[in-house]
Amino acid sequence: MKQRENWGSRIGFIMAAAGSAVGLGNIWRFPYMAGDNGGGAFILIYLGFVFVIGLSVMIAEFAVGRRTGLAAVGAYKSYSDRWTFAGVIGVISAFFIMGFYPVVGGWSLAYVFKSLTGLMSDSGAIGDAFGGFIGSPVEPLGWMLVFLVFNILIVAKGIAGGIEKAARVLMPTLLVLLAFLTVRSVTLPGASAGLEFIFKPDFSEVSGQTLLAALGQAFFSLSLGMGCMITYGSYLSKKETLPNNALIVTALDVGVAILAGIAIFPALFSFGMEPTAGPGLVFVVVPIIFAEMGAIGTLFGAVFFIALTVAALTSSVSLLEVVVAYLIDQRGMERNLFILLAEL
Ligand code: ALA
Repeated sequence: MKQRENWGSRIGFIMAAAGSAVGLGNIWRFPYMAGDNGGGAFILIYLGFVFVIGLSVMIAEFAVGRRTGLAAVGAYKSYSDRWTFAGVIGVISAFFIMGFYPVVGGWSLAYVFKSLTGLMSDSGAIGDAFGGFIGSPVEPLGWMLVFLVFNILIVAKGIAGGIEKAARVLMPTLLVLLAFLTVRSVTLPGASAGLEFIFKPDFSEVSGQTLLAALGQAFFSLSLGMGCMITYGSYLSKKETLPNNALIVTALDVGVAILAGIAIFPALFSFGMEPTAGPGLVFVVVPIIFAEMGAIGTLFGAVFFIALTVAALTSSVSLLEVVVAYLIDQRGMERNLFILLAEL
């Protein structure tokens, strides 16, 4: 039997798994969800779900992958044919999430260039510019293809030589960029209103819906139930202790979500903008904040969109790997064949 590829190092594996976890869920969803659902109260509930349920599920997913040495479908199938469907659900979930990641990743990449070429010179035009950009048939598609090419090339190069190598560079880059933005944001006048929005606990906002939202956010953000952690676990050496690694990945994921909130919301309140989530937050509100900062805003804008692209890319890579690993394990395809397809 062919030897399964392994991660080259423990830190490489941690960076790759954290890269999978840290994504759009952390940067464009978490801060707004927190602010809109009771601030600190939501964060406490979310942390409860993350560390009580999410961490255990992550350890279990790593264990299933490592024990069987197979990605999601093969791993469950090797326990019993009846459980194959659980792995299939993971692959289908990854496939569908993968459907929107390259789209938004492409937008983000485009915005790195747009930031550097005058997007922030007129804050009043930023909303329309975004509408025009996503409404045009060709431009977003072109950027999506560029993002996809990066994504495919990293996955095509394999575990240690592709995913791990990329994550070892991209994840520290993301952390440094976010830290840089955070420092700028909290030192703006009136930043405390933003911190209050995210962190001040308001238990009157907590309902059954909040609990569901926090649970959903915990699973999505930790990349659970989508085959990623089983697949990444399947490349893990038997020497590693799973709980430690899972704890570090979880802490990094939560840390980045909170950092993203501190990077965005104090600046948003400082410039009197309305809190929102999703595309409206990162492609309209955030560029307006940077535009209001004057010339230096161009630099901050580019930094923000590089960070967002990096976060999206490392998650997107893990989602594609779930599908590729399925094709390799269950359909007998070679990663080389995948490289060939990537090059076509
Ligand atoms: N875990 C990834 C995210 O948070 C999918 O976006």
